[in-house]
Amino acid sequence: MKVAFPRRRGRLFCEEVDLARLADREGTPVFVYSRRHLLERLAELKRSWTGRDPLICYSVKANSNLAVIKTLLEAGAGLDVVSGGELKRGLKAGARADRIVFAGVGKTRDEITAGLKAGVLYFTVESLPELEAIDAAAAGMGKRAAVAFRVNPHVDPRTHRFITTGTVENKFGLDLEQAREAFRRCARLGYVEPVGLQMHIGSQITAPGPFEKALKKLLALYRELRGSGFKLAYLDLGGGMGISYDGRPVPSARDYSRRLAPLLKDCPARLVLEPGRWLVGGAGILLTRVTYLKKQPIKNFVIVDAAMNDLIRPALYDAFHRIEPVAVRRRTKIRADVVGPVCESGDFLGKDRVLPEPRPGDLLAVRDAGAYGFTMSSNYNSRPRPSEVMVAGKRYRVVRKRESVADLWRGETIPDFSRAK
Ligand code: LLP
Repeated sequence: MKVAFPRRRGRLFCEEVDLARLADREGTPVFVYSRRHLLERLAELKRSWTGRDPLICYSVKANSNLAVIKTLLEAGAGLDVVSGGELKRGLKAGARADRIVFAGVGKTRDEITAGLKAGVLYFTVESLPELEAIDAAAAGMGKRAAVAFRVNPHVDPRTHRFITTGTVENKFGLDLEQAREAFRRCARLGYVEPVGLQMHIGSQITAPGPFEKALKKLLALYRELRGSGFKLAYLDLGGGMGISYDGRPVPSARDYSRRLAPLLKDCPARLVLEPGRWLVGGAGILLTRVTYLKKQPIKNFVIVDAAMNDLIRPALYDAFHRIEPVAVRRRTKIRADVVGPVCESGDFLGKDRVLPEPRPGDLLAVRDAGAYGFTMSSNYNSRPRPSEVMVAGKRYRVVRKRESVADLWRGETIPDFSRAK
């Protein structure tokens, strides 16, 4: 696998594109994505499951830019979507509906109808009331809806508590008993067809153990249900494979498949995977420019033009992202917090970082910002959201233009009673 962000003579590149030049032309803050990295990761994941030919449904929430979705679709991915908006995005990017799985705990009637109309492969169902709602919507359309039940295996994935989804305390999925009940319910309802089982135990998981534990439970249920006559064509293991944010090694895709594939040996179901971060996280960086260096008696602050509204992961999860100068220059090192201009103490991109002393105008790269970066961005403090750029070899394209200030109040109106005297 080639390095997506190589350094040449001290300058940081994305593939063959000099990032300092790109920033001069396109402005900052800007998210930059390597197309090659996306393709290589998808190919690596496929290779690691040879013989099983899993349907890899890229989890659109990680990065829903049309160009990113399109790149992965063209390389053979399907999609995992969680809202009507993501479904429409996927279709807009050219996805085949029968390669889309539709997840989420709170699908509305409109979203269910949209999924049925499009003809998604299946809905992942997370509660009995949702099953009834899908049945009713399908009945109204005279269609049958394919459903896979999300099982909560009650396994601790040992990740941040905000991104843990497979324990008793989480809102996600059905426990084993509820799942059995759901299958019985299907037999009584006329318009839902159970086609599979799904699990997703959390995100940024960096060991195969929790997957293995959860899969064993899922497989026990799978066998039991097949024994009772349910065919179950799909077994969906969700997403969650973590990446290295600090440079320390994490298990490879093959490390996971090596542990999980033997368990699946006699399982005839088509395997479905829903990776998000693992495919796109390392493909992106956030480029930002230093506005000020503020030296204080006990702390230094590098104030940059990107903020928590652009990349909220550090503020929300205390997440670590490497921050590097785009051009390496010989300077004395300082220890500083890298912070944005937003009016919150939680507005930081990095704490206590040792960096060559930055000067105003210098560029910094926040690494591994391809997943849950732009998709979680906001307009807080009336900050237009950054542009997004995709690099392919020597070429690059702006794949989402920077928001303008006028975009900030698009759709707002001043009511007539405020003008009335
Ligand atoms: N499938 C389901 C049902 C999910 O809920 C998720 C993510 C995925 C797949 C993809 O997970 P991944 O492979 O990316 O771990 N905003 C957080 C992560 C939230 C993940 C939510 N669900 C973060 O920035 O770390």
